[in-house]
Amino acid sequence: MELSNKQIDINRREILRLLISTQRDGIESVIDYLYSSGFFIVPSSLKRHHCWKGGLAQHSLNVCNIALSFGKELHRSSIVLCALLHDICKASQLYYDDKGNLHHRNTYIQGHGIRSVKLLEMLNLTLSNDERRAIRWHMGGYYASEDEIADLEMAKKSKLWEIIHKADLLDAEIK
Ligand SMILES: [Fe+2]
Ligand SMILES: [Fe+2]
Repeated sequence: MELSNKQIDINRREILRLLISTQRDGIESVIDYLYSSGFFIVPSSLKRHHCWKGGLAQHSLNVCNIALSFGKELHRSSIVLCALLHDICKASQLYYDDKGNLHHRNTYIQGHGIRSVKLLEMLNLTLSNDERRAIRWHMGGYYASEDEIADLEMAKKSKLWEIIHKADLLDAEIK
């Protein structure tokens, strides 16, 4: 499956609308990064789920819609930010060359949840601790080292973490 340019454009506009609606400090630089990194056009992975053009943005939007349907009692802006940006680090890992061939850059930080958090902090996006943990541990914490267990346990008590984790799993297994 490959998205049409029209659908890619529709997804891009919807993601921007949702992100701007959060009015969060730093969201403008995140949006600039989404454009410059290729977030709207790259796949979510080389061979796993949503591994087609536009897949990362489509997955992020799907997770957002699923999570919003789960978490009606939570702050909408927290769900939108965590869901749309949980995999943001993947945008610069995968890229197309001039001939349209897809490439993968190696990274040196273990775990893409923490890479997404670090990137968002570098972009000066303001995140609460609850939001930071929901993104960091969205995969469920398989790689947690001894000194990270307390942070992981705290994440698992959070409703925000629970719905982002669940929505991500659901969407990853559908496609
Ligand atoms: Fe992920
Ligand atoms: Fe994901």
